[in-house]
Amino acid sequence: MMEMKKQSVHGEWSSRFAFILAATGSAVGLGNIWKFPYITGENGGGAFVLVYLMCVLVIGIPIMIAESMLGRHTRQSPIGAMQQLTKEANADVHWHYLGWMGVIAGLLILSYYSVIAGWATAYVFKAFFGSFSGGDARDIKELFDTFTGSPLTLMFWHTLFMGATMWIVAQGIKDGLERAVRFLMPGLFVLLVVLVGYAMTTGAYAQGLHFLFKPDFSKITGNAVLIAMGHAFFTLSLGMGAIMVYGAYLPKNVSIAQTSILIAAADSIVALLAGLAIFPIVFANHLEPSSGPGLIFQTLPIAFGNMTGGWLIGILFFVMLVFAALTSAISVIEPAVAWLVETDRFDRKTACIWSGLTVWLLGLGTVFSFNVWADIKVFDKTFFQLLDYLTANLMLPIGGFCIAIFSGWIMLQKHSEAELAFSNPLYYRLWQNLVRYVAPVGIFLVFLHVVGVL
Ligand code: TRP
Repeated sequence: MMEMKKQSVHGEWSSRFAFILAATGSAVGLGNIWKFPYITGENGGGAFVLVYLMCVLVIGIPIMIAESMLGRHTRQSPIGAMQQLTKEANADVHWHYLGWMGVIAGLLILSYYSVIAGWATAYVFKAFFGSFSGGDARDIKELFDTFTGSPLTLMFWHTLFMGATMWIVAQGIKDGLERAVRFLMPGLFVLLVVLVGYAMTTGAYAQGLHFLFKPDFSKITGNAVLIAMGHAFFTLSLGMGAIMVYGAYLPKNVSIAQTSILIAAADSIVALLAGLAIFPIVFANHLEPSSGPGLIFQTLPIAFGNMTGGWLIGILFFVMLVFAALTSAISVIEPAVAWLVETDRFDRKTACIWSGLTVWLLGLGTVFSFNVWADIKVFDKTFFQLLDYLTANLMLPIGGFCIAIFSGWIMLQKHSEAELAFSNPLYYRLWQNLVRYVAPVGIFLVFLHVVGVL
């Protein structure tokens, strides 16, 4: 009876392919194309990239498997899932907080994600009206600075993006989420390859390659390692229940491990392609790799403004970026919405309106941190930087740590074995060791390193 009800509340993906698309849609987003290049630029390049890839491999993938598994086993929002799982395993009720933390992290993340996605939306129109045409690095930077300097403009685009996100989420699983990702992911991939092609003609391609792939460990600080690890969580959408809730809609017969590996690989390839497209342009135009969150908005338009077919490619690129952001945004808010629906106090639409309004309001803090509040700093960070640090570098890794511990040590082994259904028991052992020891110890060591104990 319960099972029937849960199914009808949230629905289910129509196939394995649909889940892969949706989870890839969740993973691939601003994290890959906007955030990865600028944090790589700020943290010295190659060594940072290497640490990030290592984190994806030994921490990200095992936790992604764990998180999807917890979701599919319970078929509920992270809060509902944690309640059922603790009951089954007879575990401490404090584990419930894990679900709560996820929902809160989601609201916080979406608040700034939506503002940046708003920038991308605005840039679709700038591309369309030819604002980049013939522009050199200075023109393009000026365009960006004027744009982010206006709180009302940023607020407008933030509102538009939040509205679109909540509208899609309100449509529910099949009609909204699934349809949106089906065409957009492949399109984005093709455009990135085109941009990498352009980057090869800038004359600084080798320099870009060098920056991305030649590790110089002297540039790596403890904080950089934390940022790399935090980004592994952020880019794979891990640590707050988004993948848990997507796993909850996953049909029973699909191999969780295989799909997780596939998704992580696709996600990393997209990020590296973005890096390969952006850094040659950075060096060819004597820009600073460490110029921060504006990096892609200050580099790619130079390419669009000066390459053949750049007008159309520019429009298409930003359209795809907006859609990539949308398919990620819907997964950030889904845990909160799914939970509100499960309380039986809200229908899906009302749940969307309330969570959407909350996020929108919080987002104003990020809007202002780029202009009127730019000088207000706590711990030397603006509101946006604080939110980003708190969520990506602290909440997600802590969430991931708990997910690893819970699925490795606390959840009944017969349940995890049955969900993962590995063909070879050795694979199960490998995964179990990764979530029991490697991932939690890794996360813990990085934290110790940052606070200066190691
Ligand atoms: N992974 C997405 C990106 O790279 C962002 C995202 C979607 C996310 N869902 C998430 C980040 C859940 C953290 C948690 O753009």
